[in-house]
Amino acid sequence: MRHYGFDLDEKKLPAHIAIIMDGNGRWAQERSFERAKGHEKGYETLKRIIDFNKKIGVKTISVYAFSTENWQRPQKEVSFLMQLAVNLVQEYTDTLIRNNIRLLITGTDDNVEAGLLSLLKEAMKRTEHCDFYTLNIAFNYGGRREIVDACKKIVVAYKGREKDLRNFSEGDFENNLYQAGLPDVDLMIRSGGEMRISNFLLWQSVYAELWFTKKFWPDFTAKDFCRAIYQYQGRKRRFGGL
Ligand code: IPE
Ligand code: IPE
Ligand code: MG
Repeated sequence: MRHYGFDLDEKKLPAHIAIIMDGNGRWAQERSFERAKGHEKGYETLKRIIDFNKKIGVKTISVYAFSTENWQRPQKEVSFLMQLAVNLVQEYTDTLIRNNIRLLITGTDDNVEAGLLSLLKEAMKRTEHCDFYTLNIAFNYGGRREIVDACKKIVVAYKGREKDLRNFSEGDFENNLYQAGLPDVDLMIRSGGEMRISNFLLWQSVYAELWFTKKFWPDFTAKDFCRAIYQYQGRKRRFGGL
């Protein structure tokens, strides 16, 4: 298939793309707007990419919406981002269902207001049957925290039968992550010019191809999405082999 001048090989699509949607605040500041305006614009970008992927058909897209470290931001910005999450599930869940897109929201419940948590859970439940592709929103998510939470589950599960841990495998560990069953990340995209992971999907990204753009997230386009996939398809992945 050809999109925006890029010849994409349908048979070599990444099974899982993870996106660090960074640069909203700087986008706004460059224009002397409040940072919140950048988050609003970023939300529009997200909806465009979600919609565009109907044409591409990547089976899992994870997006980083709020990290466990983002609580350190000024209260006003945190509240705005929480409200954006409310808006998203309230105004967008029907669209997801219409497009047969399953919604997952991944992260810890800690510090998130009970009312918002139940809205998020309800939205996930309503899209449970959808199977065209999966949109996984990392919200109040931290990669280390996810690994620690998995360890805690395992300790409880193996209490009194520690001997059984001798055969405990990486796959067994994976089954205790927040979203067991999602494939490893093939392609990780980060906008905003920083070249780091910032605690996103640590376990799942061990062999992810990394792709960075200086563009701020509000300026990120479907064409950029295609460019990232196209360049990913040209990379030689070895997974430690030859
Ligand atoms: C990413 O944009 C969105 C969130 C972290 C919620 P930023 O808000 O980090 O924008 P910059 O990096 O300050 O420009
Ligand atoms: C990563 O962006 C988190 C999200 C995009 C939600 P940050 O802006 O929080 O990351 P750092 O602080 O630049 O590493
Ligand atoms: Mg940032």
